[in-house]
Amino acid sequence: MVSPEQTARLETPEMPNPPQTLPASPSIITLENAKLSLKSADGMINILKGITLDISARESIGILGPSGAGKTSLLMVMSGLENLSSGKIKLGNQDITAMSEDSLAALRRDKIGIVFQAFRLIPSMTALQNVSVPLELAGNREAEKIAQGALESVGLDHRLAHLPEQLSGGEQQRVAIARAIAPRPQILLADEPTGNLDSATSEIVIDTLFAAAEGADAALILVTHDARLADRCSRVLHIEDGLLVHDSGENMS
Ligand SMILES: Nc1ncnc2c1ncn2[C@@H]1O[C@H](COP(=O)(O)OP(=O)(O)OP(=O)(O)O)[C@@H](O)[C@H]1O
Ligand SMILES: [Mg+2]
Repeated sequence: MVSPEQTARLETPEMPNPPQTLPASPSIITLENAKLSLKSADGMINILKGITLDISARESIGILGPSGAGKTSLLMVMSGLENLSSGKIKLGNQDITAMSEDSLAALRRDKIGIVFQAFRLIPSMTALQNVSVPLELAGNREAEKIAQGALESVGLDHRLAHLPEQLSGGEQQRVAIARAIAPRPQILLADEPTGNLDSATSEIVIDTLFAAAEGADAALILVTHDARLADRCSRVLHIEDGLLVHDSGENMS
């Protein structure tokens, strides 16, 4: 026979202070069976083959996978820059697969910061303008000051007046990062943000990205081949051949 006292002990094993259940952070990105197929010279290619995923605010996600697996494509559909062929994507509680181009552009401007694999800076604008002009267009009256601060945070205060062609690859990458973090987006997407950087600069840039995400309670989603960078993320996703093959957060409640 087990006494009531013993039962109580059995039900509350060794741990003196059982962990409190924290309220779950709200989902900020939800993918439901997301598929992307695109036409190429050889016919249709199935790039994303049905990805289901739920990402909360304040998570930091590292996306790993071989070249051609679909990592960049996944970021493109998450930001609404590429339309799904089927399935659904929600940002917060808004279904972006059903949204007009105009509302999607506004949502992107207000909520999403993206660091593209190929930077996509505007060649005729200086580093400072590349960061400040999007803020000005969004009606921010302190655009230049904020842009300058963002460039300083990635160590580029001495390159404000340089055009992209006058910057090294790593410097262009840092301008792209400054541009993405300056509006304090709720979703920060970065495609191999340390791909062109030496290890000291990588560290500065990574610290800046994590600090920007934490400061804005944002979700940070990074595509990377750098295991050190993936280690800093709270959750790691492995993409292979258009499928999510491993999710370190799969069993999280
Ligand atoms: N616009 C497009 N039209 C046709 N095929 C495309 C297009 N964009 C990407 N692909 C193909 O989709 C696949 C996934 O591409 P993606 O750029 O997402 O890969 P990735 O995982 O980011 O690779 P990497 O690590 O090399 O950047 C590749 O085989 C690529 O050739
Ligand atoms: Mg890529």
